[in-house]
Amino acid sequence: MNYSKNDKHKVAQIYDGVAEIYEEITKPMTYFQDSVQTFLQENVCAGKRVLDLGCGPGHLTSSLPLDVEVVGLDISTAMVDEARRKRPSGTYLVHDFHQSLPAELGKFDVIVANGCFDFCEDLAQVIGNVAEVLAYGGRFYFTVNEYREELPFHDARWIEAAGGQADIRIFFWSFSETASALETFGLQPLKYQHAPGWESEDPQTTIYYGYWVVECLRTKGKVTK
Ligand SMILES: C[S@@+](CC[C@H](N)C(=O)[O-])C[C@H]1O[C@@H](n2cnc3c(N)ncnc32)[C@H](O)[C@@H]1O
Repeated sequence: MNYSKNDKHKVAQIYDGVAEIYEEITKPMTYFQDSVQTFLQENVCAGKRVLDLGCGPGHLTSSLPLDVEVVGLDISTAMVDEARRKRPSGTYLVHDFHQSLPAELGKFDVIVANGCFDFCEDLAQVIGNVAEVLAYGGRFYFTVNEYREELPFHDARWIEAAGGQADIRIFFWSFSETASALETFGLQPLKYQHAPGWESEDPQTTIYYGYWVVECLRTKGKVTK
């Protein structure tokens, strides 16, 4: 795919600026957060290791029981600081998910990436990075802006966020690209839904997500694209 990539500092800067109020301003977007909460309730119990990728201020996983180990990664330092404040027992690090996930963090039973792959420039690479740290039988929940020719604003591979004012873009991936990346890395789809994700003000439209739950079927060995 041919496009200019985001300046990651700009993405981080935008989220640094809203870290303290992020929870408040996203409260109306219940659909986007309800399904990940259901997933966490169904899949997390005592002793599990949970990775919250693109964790924002950590609100999705901060109130999990203390006998659950939570690690959160985000590109925004202010988001990571907020997440740490909310759950001092957790481990929170600044990290770009396009890079390999730190091996020293070990493997995870449960991984969530809610609303953060909007900024994913290479879905296969990022899914490969996740697969490397997902334990055998572990579950991965993620959302991805889904490329659909029939939907307004979803017929392009990326759009300018905030009408171009932010100078960053959000990216769209088709169902088949997503399914193929999952297959490459031994991740078996368990659930899939195509449904509204969030409301964009500029351009004014509903952004639709593919909501995925997948399970790791790969026991060992690195799979490359
Ligand atoms: C829409 S917020 C979602 C936050 C949270 N997961 C939620 O569901 O509310 C997107 C988050 O992804 C983070 N993010 C964007 N690009 C990223 C990247 N390349 N690596 C890691 N985090 C990233 C942003 O800093 C922001 O905190």
